[in-house]
Amino acid sequence: MSANYDQLLDATLQHLQELKSRGVRYVPVSPETLRALSQPGQNPPAARMASAPTPSQSGIGIRKLGPDAPALAVGELPLALPGEPQSQIVNPKSPIEKAAGFAELRQRAMVCVKCSHLAASRKNVVFGVGSIEAGVMFVGEAPGADEDEQGEPFVGKAGQLLTRIIQTMGFSRDTVYIGNILKCRPDTPGQSAGNRKPTPQEMQTCIPYLHEQIDLIRPKVIVALGGTAIEGLLGKTVGITKLRGQWQTYRDTPLMPTYHPAYLLRNQALSEKRKVWEDMLAVMERLGMPTSEKQRGFFLKG
Ligand code: URA
Ligand code: URA
Repeated sequence: MSANYDQLLDATLQHLQELKSRGVRYVPVSPETLRALSQPGQNPPAARMASAPTPSQSGIGIRKLGPDAPALAVGELPLALPGEPQSQIVNPKSPIEKAAGFAELRQRAMVCVKCSHLAASRKNVVFGVGSIEAGVMFVGEAPGADEDEQGEPFVGKAGQLLTRIIQTMGFSRDTVYIGNILKCRPDTPGQSAGNRKPTPQEMQTCIPYLHEQIDLIRPKVIVALGGTAIEGLLGKTVGITKLRGQWQTYRDTPLMPTYHPAYLLRNQALSEKRKVWEDMLAVMERLGMPTSEKQRGFFLKG
């Protein structure tokens, strides 16, 4: 618990420093959090917080943002893209609240035994990796053997390809968020290798964790990798070959369906790489990122 707390505190301070380096001087904090933070000794986290550097010592002021706070204050945070609906930026959770919510969610998922067969066969729960402040979130199907071994999503062959795609877009694994529909590897009884698709029952049981991750991160764009991600997030069983490249909506968030990187490993045709890359160019455009001519030209025939 205290190691978790220290981790959380480190992550929070690091995040505040990063915001500060980007010129942010105020972060929104709910009245409840402000109250908790200003009552040292009332409960263990608040007491420990009091002995650690406070956000104001790190040079960032905390401004109270309640229902009656001026709407202008929200505009001081670089949270919205031009033209983004206001509803996405009204009352966002503060970084502290987000980090705390995420740590609590992770703790619940890490000890989950709702699918007892998967809890019995897994080596690790694969919760997710990346930044909880990410603008873009990649969602796959489920951990494979490598991911189960390492406790991290997309680290096997398909994962390495996804990592390259992410880097070619100008991101890194640390600046996006990567997760899966299932947090545990689908078991393969009687087989020592191979993967199987999650069952509808497993997906239904596990998906609330992903919903909570998305609700906390509030990415500007979700990329759904392959048919299972689409089925899990949108409940659509229309084939991925029909849906890819066409913007969908998950709650209020734009969602781009594209092929799973494992498919690109099975089908090495340039045309298939180009389709996925065009989907990623559309994502970058949606995020307001400039693309170079070189980037736009990748995987086109010479
Ligand atoms: N495939 C997935 O869908 N997810 C992973 O984490 C790894 C491979
Ligand atoms: N076919 C599949 O089964 N999955 C993909 O992601 C793409 C094509």
